[in-house]
Amino acid sequence: MDFSTNENEENELYHAQIHLYKHLYSFISSMALKSAMELGISDAIYNHGKPMTLPELASALKLHPSKVNILYRLLRLLTHNGFYAKTTVMKGEEEEEKTAYALTPPSKLLIRGKSTCLAPMVQGSLNPLALDMWHSSKKWFNEDKELELFESATGDNFWDVLNEDSDKLSLFQDAMAADSQMFKIALKDCKHVFEGVDSLVDVGGGTGGVTKLINEAFPNIKCTVFDQPQVVGNLIGNENLNFVGGDMFNSIPPADAVLLKWVLHDWNDELSLKILKNSKEAISGKGKKGKVIIVDISIDETSDDRELTELQLHFDMVMLTLHNGKEREKKEWEKLIYDAGFNSYKITPVFGFKSLIEVFP
Ligand SMILES: C[S@@+](CC[C@H](N)C(=O)[O-])C[C@H]1O[C@@H](n2cnc3c(N)ncnc32)[C@H](O)[C@@H]1O
Repeated sequence: MDFSTNENEENELYHAQIHLYKHLYSFISSMALKSAMELGISDAIYNHGKPMTLPELASALKLHPSKVNILYRLLRLLTHNGFYAKTTVMKGEEEEEKTAYALTPPSKLLIRGKSTCLAPMVQGSLNPLALDMWHSSKKWFNEDKELELFESATGDNFWDVLNEDSDKLSLFQDAMAADSQMFKIALKDCKHVFEGVDSLVDVGGGTGGVTKLINEAFPNIKCTVFDQPQVVGNLIGNENLNFVGGDMFNSIPPADAVLLKWVLHDWNDELSLKILKNSKEAISGKGKKGKVIIVDISIDETSDDRELTELQLHFDMVMLTLHNGKEREKKEWEKLIYDAGFNSYKITPVFGFKSLIEVFP
């Protein structure tokens, strides 16, 4: 066997190995994040009010002494990944300097009870339901059926599984509601979008997380949350916010504006077209002044921000495998919007990794 290589080839090989292993084990980073969330590490540091030493943290988390060193190693990875920061605090009568762990902006997103808490999103996304199906991807590729990976692996449709199990449905709706809280921050940058709007229907609006924020910011807008009857059936609104159950593929209640946040990415082009056409019908009473407001990802593969693009491409895989849906590039949005009979549109990236897409008749 010939093992002779030159120095460049060796370097390339070493880098290739690092690259491959990094991706092979990146699930460890996801799972370490889940462990941190389930243990409540961020809550403990937050409740302590200042950075915590390892023994303080282990004691607050009520860990068995045999697990303290394991906690240290978990924190070492999470600190490397930017979730916690190492600092020093003075401890004991001798005022000795000790290493302590502090929160960082990403780990603050795990603090329970805060409006920006994304713990339910971590819980929902790293659920065995969403992970186990990946072991069947080879079978999926070799099938000649147009099924999403989830259905190919489990024999069930994702939405049916949620609708038949109230615990799973709540887990999903809690994750959606958590993500929606970020909308509050974005709302101040897109006030103009709601100007002149007297009524709005939030299609696939879940338990109303986003609509409630719009309602708080614009109390004069009459808002309707429109979702499946099993999601909104028991929810109670108020004078300016009501919940209506129905099927967006049949018809959508009329309003000046239709909001579709994180809805179209769940569906393929054919079904998204149906939703958009029904949305156009719903806003037709307002003539040219009606609008559809989409909040979804617009992928830009040419962006210099590789981390952002990678996240968007990961979301695309999630949509593909769970729902046969897709995250779209600008040209795909354009085709969908014009095919649905709209006249113009405007894409503005305002929600971190998502965009605001205003669509006009
Ligand atoms: C990904 S979630 C988005 C929820 C919400 N817009 C948000 O961003 O938090 C998609 C929503 O579409 C709803 N949905 C699915 N099929 C529907 C249908 N046929 N008619 C109305 N809503 C539907 C689901 O129940 C779910 O609440």
